[in-house]
Amino acid sequence: MTRPAVIVTGAAAGIGRAAALLFAERGYGVVAVDVAVPVCPDGSDGLVPLVGDVSEEPVNEAAVALAVREFGRLDVVVLNAGIGGTPPLDAPGAIERFDRMVAVNLRGPVLGIRAAAPALRARGGGAIVLTASVSGLAGDPGVWAYNATKAAVVNLVRGTAIDHARQGIRINAVAPGLTDTPRTAVHRDDPDLEAELTRRIPMGRWARPHEQAEAIWFLASPAASYITGVTLPVDGGLTASTGLLPPPLT
Ligand SMILES: NC(=O)c1ccc[n+]([C@@H]2O[C@H](COP(=O)([O-])OP(=O)(O)OC[C@H]3O[C@@H](n4cnc5c(N)ncnc54)[C@H](O)[C@@H]3O)[C@@H](O)[C@H]2O)c1
Repeated sequence: MTRPAVIVTGAAAGIGRAAALLFAERGYGVVAVDVAVPVCPDGSDGLVPLVGDVSEEPVNEAAVALAVREFGRLDVVVLNAGIGGTPPLDAPGAIERFDRMVAVNLRGPVLGIRAAAPALRARGGGAIVLTASVSGLAGDPGVWAYNATKAAVVNLVRGTAIDHARQGIRINAVAPGLTDTPRTAVHRDDPDLEAELTRRIPMGRWARPHEQAEAIWFLASPAASYITGVTLPVDGGLTASTGLLPPPLT
């Protein structure tokens, strides 16, 4: 019997790395896609790296071909690669940066869904999980470009979920809140900023990457068999709050 197979993008670090390792631990063959060399720890049999940029169509097609070649099937796709770094709108280079964020955060998942759908259909269905963000559910100062691309992901999930529902392909997203990854290290390196951000989270702490991976696992699993088109906040209660009043300290 062949093992189930998953593609995970952005698999070299952070949430994608945690998801790739979780699926591998639980018996999946994993195609781990990243612009950096994705992690393949010793003994993690079944993790196949693919170095490439998700904003390029051939990379997405190659990931599907690799899953089928290595594992004989494709069951789940985790479209997680994403970038931040919003400049002020009037800064030099702001539009070039915006274009790049659209390419990675939005075009990437669009290409990923398009490339994977035929292989999933061929098996009678499957699951696709995107990584949106709480920044796609509301806005924050100085984050306009990231806000826009992640909000687009939330509605991409809705629209594509409807189009693929009768093919047995479920499409959902997680919306992480603040999560302890290489990408957010810059915030944690500033103790005042870290304390200020942490104070706003009702649970009083940041997420660990494996907590995002577990939510991705759930949405991809048969336990979520009647769930499609949703974005699940995984944010310690952050988006449960209007933000008007600080959460109680005890
Ligand atoms: N960390 C957080 O607090 C947080 C919160 C909300 C949403 N997110 C989202 O979660 C996802 C993962 O974030 P993270 O914090 O783990 O980030 P990270 O920067 O720690 O890891 C992201 C990985 O994606 C890879 N990557 C970047 N651009 C790529 C491209 N074009 N093609 C292929 N791989 C690429 C990077 O090399 C890196 O290995 C992103 O979509 C991010 O927007 C993160």
